Amino acid sequence: MAVTGTDIRVAKAFLMKGELVAIPTETVYGLAGNALNEQSVLSIFEVKNRPAFDPLIIHTDTISKIEQYVSEIPEKARTLASHFWPGPLTLLLPKKIIIPDLVTSGLDTVAVRIPKHPVALDLLSQLDFPLAAPSANPFGYISPTNATHVNAQLGDQISYILDGGECEVGIESTIIGFENNETIIYRLGGLEIDQIRDLIGEVSFMPHSSSDPKAPGMLKSHYAPRKPLYLEKRASISVFDPDQTGYLLFDTYLENVDKKYQRLLSPSGDLKEAAHNLFAYLRELDAMDVNFIKAERVPMSGLGLAINDRLQRAAATE
Ligand code: TXA
Ligand code: MG
Repeated sequence: MAVTGTDIRVAKAFLMKGELVAIPTETVYGLAGNALNEQSVLSIFEVKNRPAFDPLIIHTDTISKIEQYVSEIPEKARTLASHFWPGPLTLLLPKKIIIPDLVTSGLDTVAVRIPKHPVALDLLSQLDFPLAAPSANPFGYISPTNATHVNAQLGDQISYILDGGECEVGIESTIIGFENNETIIYRLGGLEIDQIRDLIGEVSFMPHSSSDPKAPGMLKSHYAPRKPLYLEKRASISVFDPDQTGYLLFDTYLENVDKKYQRLLSPSGDLKEAAHNLFAYLRELDAMDVNFIKAERVPMSGLGLAINDRLQRAAATE
């Protein structure tokens, strides 16, 4: 088990030595290392068992620091940044040479974000290098939304877990890139699409892919529990399943099923609350004495798009 604590000085000392620290953000916990130190970046890939073709997001606390790492910030990117940073938004921008190719898996763009978490921002403000930080889970598994989740899976391999409580948003950042004057969403996430459209107009989607390394964040089978997960509409969830099944439901319990096998994402039907609970409840169901998980699709509005996207990938078998 890793040492878990709230001491930013301890986290800073490990990071300055090139070691890895789990850090809280408003979306999910990150497995952080010095993005300018190739050894640290290599350890991130090793600890996560992450394929080298899947690039990392770098985190820092100000736009002026970001200007040291990227060669250009298009106007729409600046508009998004000034409205939504700090926040659950990641921008793909052309990288400067200072960012190691390892971080970007050889791509010309680097993913950057300013997270909205007081502990992360305090830490980042004290560092003169950005933190490369993927979600702090083994590759392909569910992202962690509290320090206990991180400890359960990566605790043996990291120096320190900086505990910042539960992640408020609960799903990863929305990833946006810019190509030929087009704004492209590469990953649905904690920033809602309507908020983006209201500010900068139309956006397009990069189709999901399980083979195109240009968009590895979109790997089809991802965010997955160990147990088989079936994603269904409410009406098609069969209640009299002979096998022991755990249920992940939106706002209403199923009748005729013991409540201990059911988790409600949001009893009041609030999609923000549902996103906040999503990964923690998936973990609880995965740890339960059941053979299968059945999940209900949530309404396709607001954060519902990102929630259903995660459930779809959790259900994929490829
Ligand atoms: O909310 C988040 O974004 C969290 C917290 C810790 O900040 N981080 C996170 O990182 O979700 P990760 O590594 O689990 O997912 C980042 C995704 C990767 O799957 C990768 O495919 C994509 O971002 N990505 C990174 N750099 C990219 C690039 N240059 N072009 C396209 N996709 C990129
Ligand atoms: Mg991840």
